[in-house]
Amino acid sequence: MNASFTIRRYQPEVRDDPYYETFEFEAEPTDRVLDGLNHIKWHMDGTLALRRSCQHGICGSDAMRINGRNRLACKTLLRDVGADVTVEPLMGFPVLKDLIVDFDPFFEQFKEVKAYLINDEPPPEKERLQSPDEAARYGDTSKCIQCGACTGSCPSFWPGSGFIGPAAVVQAHRFIFDTRDSGSDERQSVLDGREGVWACRTVFNCTKACPVGIEVTRAIGEVKRALSWDET
Ligand code: FES
Repeated sequence: MNASFTIRRYQPEVRDDPYYETFEFEAEPTDRVLDGLNHIKWHMDGTLALRRSCQHGICGSDAMRINGRNRLACKTLLRDVGADVTVEPLMGFPVLKDLIVDFDPFFEQFKEVKAYLINDEPPPEKERLQSPDEAARYGDTSKCIQCGACTGSCPSFWPGSGFIGPAAVVQAHRFIFDTRDSGSDERQSVLDGREGVWACRTVFNCTKACPVGIEVTRAIGEVKRALSWDET
């Protein structure tokens, strides 16, 4: 097939404004968008900047906007999106270069919600036991690969209002509903604050964007209920 990739470029060392550039090349329908981007970078324009690592949907490096929807380039086949592909960086994040956005604030939000196990009890002799049902309570949100596709699809996040974004709430959910964790009170001020979960308008973009199928909007709703009724 004749593939045509139109890419939103931003090369701050060359020019101040972003622009779109189209590359045409031969590709197979079973090629991934990442294969096309690699072809452009390796054979047509070495200055194209993008992140990728595992190339198998594990590391979350290559989330980007593909034909208007956030996806992983390594998990998106040309036969599913067509030969004419528009590729843009995730919305709502500062763009550093081409398809690379600044993720430092994204990971700062994980720190804000304390996305780690908090338990000041002395550790038991062996592990902290948990039943399969208890583990299932946060099983969905534990699948998060931290790619930013959900946060970059959220209209409440785009304007830079300070909303912590769906990914940070997913991270908080992972620990709030873990019976071994006792840090819910420490997370409350951020989650219940002006920039916390209540900025979510239940648009469901995040659930549609998640490449690993997390029910993000549902998780956000569960965190809202937990804050309202203290039902953790
Ligand atoms: S390169 Fe790792 S998820 Fe796509």
